[in-house]
Amino acid sequence: MQLWKGRFKKELSKTTNDFNSSIRFDSRMYREDIEGSIAHATMLGRCGIIAQESAEEIVKGLKDILADIESGALPFDMEAEDIHTFIEGELTKRIGDDGKRLHTSRSRNDQVALDVKLYLKKEVVNVKKLVVELIKVIAGKAAEYADTVMPGYTHLQRAQPITFGHHLLAYGEMLLRDVSRLEDCLKRMDEMPLGSCALAGTTYPIDRTITAELLGFDRITNNSLDGVSDRDFCMEFASALSIIMVHLSRFSEEMIMWCSWEFKFVELDDAFSTGSSIMPQKKNPDIAELVRGKSGRVFGDTMTLFTVMKGIALAYNKDMQEDKEAIFDAVDTVKMCLTAFTPMLDTMRVIPQNMRRAAAGGFINATDCADWLTKNGVPFRDAYKATGELVAKCIELGCDLESLPLDEYKKVCFVFNEDVYNAISLERCVSQRTAFGGPAPELVRAQAKRVAEIAENL
Ligand code: ARG
Repeated sequence: MQLWKGRFKKELSKTTNDFNSSIRFDSRMYREDIEGSIAHATMLGRCGIIAQESAEEIVKGLKDILADIESGALPFDMEAEDIHTFIEGELTKRIGDDGKRLHTSRSRNDQVALDVKLYLKKEVVNVKKLVVELIKVIAGKAAEYADTVMPGYTHLQRAQPITFGHHLLAYGEMLLRDVSRLEDCLKRMDEMPLGSCALAGTTYPIDRTITAELLGFDRITNNSLDGVSDRDFCMEFASALSIIMVHLSRFSEEMIMWCSWEFKFVELDDAFSTGSSIMPQKKNPDIAELVRGKSGRVFGDTMTLFTVMKGIALAYNKDMQEDKEAIFDAVDTVKMCLTAFTPMLDTMRVIPQNMRRAAAGGFINATDCADWLTKNGVPFRDAYKATGELVAKCIELGCDLESLPLDEYKKVCFVFNEDVYNAISLERCVSQRTAFGGPAPELVRAQAKRVAEIAENL
């Protein structure tokens, strides 16, 4: 069914209709379409553009349609061109001529821009809630493991000692930035386009602020061409979602490594891992792997949106119908990933002794050894070189810095004395790193508390 029959003499071919139609993916916006139409009809009535009784009839008819869709009494007609056509057609079927007045001073171009914005405004909030849930779990675990020493890595080589709580809170910071990106994107999205009509506004004496207020928008769009041509809000939301997926994917990669027998820093709960159909011993971190894998979908969706938009002249072009599957898929994917990831993290078993064991190898206290010399008057560059020689000696003797005898230290630099052993104990290496932002347990506890409080108020 089409709304634009007048100038056509032939029926649309079945293939064209199938190709052109978007109802199979835009029907999910039925609620927003109805809300938008109710606000539009109310505004038309208040401005005297249609009779008050007509406006009331339309609103009542639309409410009935909404109820029938939600109860399942009214299935979507997959032959309809899109959700807008379906609902307007159904309204006219039910209330007759007044139904045909609804589209006065409106185009599907501003209608679809409105519907997508209304839909995404809710989804930004939904995604944000899920991110906040994850941040809360991270803050809780960080407080619990504020004292747990583990190796920190660069180049995936053991580098310097940190605490597990500190490591987790790095993800807390990333996700807090994600939340602020979502909030930002919501602010910019909060502009009501209805009244832009096809592209050039309207000659009817409409009051766009009434519609904006009824729909809970902060303000109205300023340019009718931009109002119908703009999909920045989709691209911006998709970009924010992509960055969330980068973060979740890195976190997943670490979870996967930590679950391996080579690390065994954590073990996933049985409820959040899977087995192998042939290898009875296997316990696989499928959730983390899927999250890592699904990041590609979201980046792809973002690229789809950019590519669809980059070459189209103002104003509306049918290319823009391609926005919906991309942004809906990005939103669905991120929500699904967060819903699976958060309880997986929440229920993991942390194995501090394995972290401690890994921290004891790999000379991760070498910087602290050099720092001890520096604090005893040796210039840092010389201290660095001397410590390098000590590490080489340890490798030759097959020991670590803690067990290397003092006379070997003294052979490399006369300044060394017994106190160095105290300075290079891993617990001290960590507890002394008290510069703001560091891994010392007291700082981690304070940061975990800060992050938890912020998350509580988001
Ligand atoms: N289904 C269309 C879309 O999603 C609605 C807008 C149609 N506008 C038009 N001029 N054909 O973009």
